[in-house]
Amino acid sequence: MRNTIANVQKMKQQGERIAMLTAYDCASALIAERAGVPMLLVGDSLGMVMLGYDTTLPVTLDDMVRHSSAVMRVSQQALVVGDLPFMSYATVEDAVTSARRLMQEGGVQAVKLEGGSAIVPQIRRLVESGVPVMGHLGLTPQSQHQIGLRVQAKRAVEARRLLEDALALEAAGTFALALEVVPASLAEVVSKRVSIPVIGIGAGAGCDGQVQVWHDLLGLFDRKTPRHAKRYAEIGTAMEKAVRTYVEDVQRGAFPTAAQSAIMDETELKAALD
Ligand code: KIV
Ligand code: NA
Repeated sequence: MRNTIANVQKMKQQGERIAMLTAYDCASALIAERAGVPMLLVGDSLGMVMLGYDTTLPVTLDDMVRHSSAVMRVSQQALVVGDLPFMSYATVEDAVTSARRLMQEGGVQAVKLEGGSAIVPQIRRLVESGVPVMGHLGLTPQSQHQIGLRVQAKRAVEARRLLEDALALEAAGTFALALEVVPASLAEVVSKRVSIPVIGIGAGAGCDGQVQVWHDLLGLFDRKTPRHAKRYAEIGTAMEKAVRTYVEDVQRGAFPTAAQSAIMDETELKAALD
């Protein structure tokens, strides 16, 4: 049975930490679910790790729909959240159109939007329309050209604003909140002040859960490994080694062998050549 919003909220109440992970295709979704991940994010980070862009800004709603539907074709257990990409929720009308596509065509259970009080009208309308919304505060990569890619809310004024934004998002009806690259002590306070689950990334151990990017966690992609990521494996190195062995095997005639080949009766071949 699929995980629910009610259940992740219960996890917070019971002090059970939530491990969220990104997934962008069927293979990663299957592996993540077999490993027991309760919440998956089809993040617009796919712009960097899947599509080769430098930022999340070029990611389109079509990209998000395609990757979400790939995940949803195989996903059976996790609560799956999909990111609304840059400029796809600038107005209330845009937000409605974009969330409709991501849920109906992408098939995700909820959407995530970056921003605080400024996007409360969009969030309210979505929630009123039956769309579960996850918020995202702190280092919001879609506005990186305004805020930079550094730790956010280190100063009192910004920390206070972040806390107010978190409360505004909760009041607007978001069911959970992602908190990216903010001081651990502040993230812990936010997690205590709101009743919805706070899922941190680079926000310390005081959050109700953590979210990580698939490629960072598995050591799959090292063009840009953020400081907050822990590599639980070196899958990229393992892949490279396997591919190199394959290339060498082909070059020296060691692949394929009889085991990988089909056979036919020799008389049939002879008859064909007569
Ligand atoms: O796109 C993403 O992967 C995200 C997480 C880092 C929160 O938004
Ligand atoms: Na994102």
